[in-house]
Amino acid sequence: MERQRDLSYYRGDGGLGLLFANDIVRQVKDPVLILTGRSVLSAQTEVRLRELRSRGARIEYLQADVTRKEQAEHLVLYIVEEFGNLNGIIHSAGVIRDSFILKKNRQEIQQVLDPKVSGLVNLDLASREMPLEFFVFFSSIAGSFGNPGQADYAAANAFMDAYAVHRNDLAASGLRQGRTLSIGWPLWKDGGMGIDPHAEGRMMHSWGMKPLETETGIQAMYQALASGHGQVLIMSGEATKIREKVLSGSAPKQAISETADRSQVDQERLRDRTGQQFKALFGEITQLDATKININEPLEHYGIDSIMINQLNMKMEGLFGELSKRYFTSIRP
Ligand SMILES: NC(=O)c1ccc[n+]([C@@H]2O[C@H](COP(=O)([O-])OP(=O)(O)OC[C@H]3O[C@@H](n4cnc5c(N)ncnc54)[C@H](OP(=O)(O)O)[C@@H]3O)[C@@H](O)[C@H]2O)c1
Repeated sequence: MERQRDLSYYRGDGGLGLLFANDIVRQVKDPVLILTGRSVLSAQTEVRLRELRSRGARIEYLQADVTRKEQAEHLVLYIVEEFGNLNGIIHSAGVIRDSFILKKNRQEIQQVLDPKVSGLVNLDLASREMPLEFFVFFSSIAGSFGNPGQADYAAANAFMDAYAVHRNDLAASGLRQGRTLSIGWPLWKDGGMGIDPHAEGRMMHSWGMKPLETETGIQAMYQALASGHGQVLIMSGEATKIREKVLSGSAPKQAISETADRSQVDQERLRDRTGQQFKALFGEITQLDATKININEPLEHYGIDSIMINQLNMKMEGLFGELSKRYFTSIRP
């Protein structure tokens, strides 16, 4: 990325927003950064911004909700009036409401889609006349591969990825300026959006991935910008395993090995032993006495949630190898 003296950025002011602000201040002399979010600035973030200002940056925090068209427009207008130009935009606003799709309500889905769909379109339209050098979208690998409990988040990020292609097409026709890049991030070690440790363990186990270190992630963004691509996926961990998974389309193995000759297995005994094993695993996770678990009862009657499903999947994968993540969304023991 070209290093300039006077840069004006607009971004969501979250965990990653601050990590990148910190890096820009480290690399660019006296940059101008505009950070935004809907909330009032917290005392903790104010301290971090003060520290960045002490290193020569001009940093402003503007309260704005990008899902509101007029607020996105006002923001861009304000930046141009106040600073004379806007060189680049990093869209890192996002919200997660993880839960299985059957349990999600309309409002939760809307909350997840809004910043990445209407928020992104509003920002793009508000800045369409701007001579931007770049417009970077912080998407997620969930947009490409999906993730249990994140159907809405996956859709929101897939929209970002597609919109990057659309905006690059508009730029090719002279209707926008600057490169558009959608970055599908994996989990960051020190980002704002975390996932629960069990999901992290499963990600490691089945994909060979590990959370992205700050310095690696920052360097990856510069490499992605230099690559000339409109969409880039970034992953960190065991390269061979990750490459295999991505290139193979990650087809899950069958839950039960096909090598067993089913005709030689006593089906009733098998069902009974499987039920006992399942009750033991389920009891461990729900902290329920396994003898009190009724194998014919729907799982949701025991208050199972997405975290428990993740834990259950991990335990089952520990026993049987990789399983389809859809298994427990439809199974009734
Ligand atoms: N961190 C990760 O591990 C990771 C992994 C993959 C992808 N990503 C993507 O990277 C981006 C940044 O992640 P993060 O970890 O920095 O998340 P974060 O700490 O939760 O920050 C997200 C920011 O978005 C702002 N925001 C949400 N809705 C907004 C709206 N309507 N208008 C303006 N600002 C809004 C939030 O501020 P307010 O609440 O004040 O509005 C918050 O500051 C997200 O889009 C996420 O999907 C992150």
